[in-house]
Amino acid sequence: MSLTGKRILLIIGGGIAAYKALDFIRRVRERGASVRPVLTAAGKQFVTPLSVSSLAGMSVHEDLFSLTEEANMGHIELSRAADLVVIAPATADLIAKAANGLANDLASTLLLATDKKVLMAPAMNVRMWLHPATQRNVAQLARDGVLFAGPVDGEMACGEFGPGRMVEPLEIVAAIEKALASSTAISLAGDGPLAGRKIIITSGPTHEPIDPVRYIANRSSGKQGHAIAQAAARAGAQVILVSGPVAIPDPSGVTTHHVETARDMLDAVEAALPADIFIGAAAVADWRVDNAGAQKMKKLTSGAPTLQFTENPDILASVCARTKDRPALVVGFAAETENVIAYAQDKLVRKKCDLVIANDVSPERGVMGGSKNEVHLVSKTGVESWPLLDKDEVARRLVDTIAAHFKKGYGA
Ligand code: C5P
Repeated sequence: MSLTGKRILLIIGGGIAAYKALDFIRRVRERGASVRPVLTAAGKQFVTPLSVSSLAGMSVHEDLFSLTEEANMGHIELSRAADLVVIAPATADLIAKAANGLANDLASTLLLATDKKVLMAPAMNVRMWLHPATQRNVAQLARDGVLFAGPVDGEMACGEFGPGRMVEPLEIVAAIEKALASSTAISLAGDGPLAGRKIIITSGPTHEPIDPVRYIANRSSGKQGHAIAQAAARAGAQVILVSGPVAIPDPSGVTTHHVETARDMLDAVEAALPADIFIGAAAVADWRVDNAGAQKMKKLTSGAPTLQFTENPDILASVCARTKDRPALVVGFAAETENVIAYAQDKLVRKKCDLVIANDVSPERGVMGGSKNEVHLVSKTGVESWPLLDKDEVARRLVDTIAAHFKKGYGA
């Protein structure tokens, strides 16, 4: 999608990642969009108004009470004369202000006054990001319809490692394209349809070691499971995502636990229980290597080594089998390359779940690792087939379906 003619209002907060906002301005303008910059007082400590306005090709707005700035363009007009509001870096302070509706400087006033979509690219120290106050604020903003790009795991300027690093400028550009392409209106509803519900979701593949440097994996990207986690958080749920090794960022407003093996995944799921809803979207390895090497296996003169396999625990089946704290709704996935619906119906009965989302993952369909999915919802009441959709859209529809069925008691 081209950004030609789009108008981006960019709020630059006060963090070391502000330097990336300069490159971001260039990337956006290269794509034909205009950038009207706003610099917070803290942002000014990291980048200068001169560099920002030179790159943006227009003057930078800094002050709520500036007579000259207000005379040129009042803050209400400024907040609305844009197609999208982007905050990069979005600091803990800006996020907290926006989540609570404060309006004591130009940036926070614009956020309260705007009727446009808002996209935040958070950047802060890992402890600040993981602090319950920030997570609460992010969850609130997600419920208010604010979109998030990142943060991602990485080394911080302060020397710590973990989630809190701002995504790269081109990833913010990609998020802008997505935000502008989607017609979903900003939800102004306070609480979403899953408010007050706790959901545990597994996503991605598992890695089963052969030795300390080799492993067995599968082609799952985690895109569908992560999209469901994001959609559930936006619908107001408290979301615990247990993710195998994936190359995509953690969804925002979600508590993500990273695991490697099926056994680690089961431990993390059990530790997160009880929950109202469990969704097993992970492509869990059915087997692990029983005779995995404690050291790297060496080439043998006698030929290739023989790997012995043993069965992994079935996470979905064991969640369904819990007696005291079985979630009220358990959803499984059935990724198959043939007899898709029949196998899903079998899984529904055998694993005792309430709903199975079946999809055809034959390589020619490009579902595994791709961005689209064509699913069939298999329950004891029948089969509902959806057309080929973006995985984000599948996630939104699934969350709506769950919320609706949950309301009246799924399968009741
Ligand atoms: O048995 P199969 O792998 O086809 O079932 C798929 C469903 O079961 C998915 O929801 C997947 O997350 C879950 N599963 C699991 N633990 C396993 C294998 C599959 O939770 N060991």
